[in-house]
Amino acid sequence: MSFVSKNELDYWLEHVRIYANNGTVADYIPALANQSPEISAAAFYSVDGECPSAGQSNYKFTIQSVSKVFILALALIQHGEEAVFNRVGKEPSSDPFYSIRKLELESPGKPLNPMINAGALAVTNMIRGRHSEEMVGEILDFMRRLCQDDSVTYDRDVAESEFQTAFLNRSLAYFMKQNGIITGSVEELLDVYTKQCAIEMNVKQLARIGAVFANDGRDPDTNVPLIPATVARICKTFMVTCGMYDNSGTFAINVGIPAKSGVSGAILGVIKNEGGLAVFGPSLDKKGNSVVGIELLEKLTQEKKWSIY
Ligand code: DON
Repeated sequence: MSFVSKNELDYWLEHVRIYANNGTVADYIPALANQSPEISAAAFYSVDGECPSAGQSNYKFTIQSVSKVFILALALIQHGEEAVFNRVGKEPSSDPFYSIRKLELESPGKPLNPMINAGALAVTNMIRGRHSEEMVGEILDFMRRLCQDDSVTYDRDVAESEFQTAFLNRSLAYFMKQNGIITGSVEELLDVYTKQCAIEMNVKQLARIGAVFANDGRDPDTNVPLIPATVARICKTFMVTCGMYDNSGTFAINVGIPAKSGVSGAILGVIKNEGGLAVFGPSLDKKGNSVVGIELLEKLTQEKKWSIY
């Protein structure tokens, strides 16, 4: 039994597609500027393994900042809470995701949380591996386990395009290296980070990972544990407090579920004990969140009374 029907997804996606006109496609990563704003898709993967979908649900996009949740989970699995939270804080930031300001204001320059770029860079820096290739290997293995799909990989053009233009992220990383939050080569870290952001999926695959989190870390098809329940809980809590960046408060009132967005136009929502909801639409609002995604999440969660509050 799925908690959402294909008819419902079709209806709401058709209803909100028009909102694409209210935003713009991200262009600070040159390769993302090529995305067509008309594309839209949604999928719900239930904790009992059903997956209705709507729109261009086979279309592959890069997950961008949605990856921050998964890398946090992997770092927590590899190193435990104490080590991870020695490097990154647990508090929301009211600044945009790329901001460097708080790194200088806070002492000792620890990034506020793992969902902003500075925090994500610090967490990626912890992933096991002797060099960037091994670290990317660890990340892809983990993503393939979560998707139960060995073909999951990253888009080389998008990764390369971001690597060539990631001046702000390099600044954040060098600042943190100066303060001892980041160790090793910044260029290798940027290599891993841009590849993790460029991991490609369609909405059905992304929704499946959401279902793992909704199912307290267990695979929605087999119930095999993939992520410890505590780790899944920590990640979902960050999705609530920081997942939609400096729009997280408004989103909590209007939608009220753990969610994470990426500048490609992806949003992943998690509905505890029910499933994962992934929405894609590359047209973004000023905070960097998909306008179609936000509208669909608002409409569907209000109808389903999914808010956790
Ligand atoms: O680091 C960046 O700027 C991108 N790779 C990811 C940013 C992102 O997705 C923020 N999302 N709203």
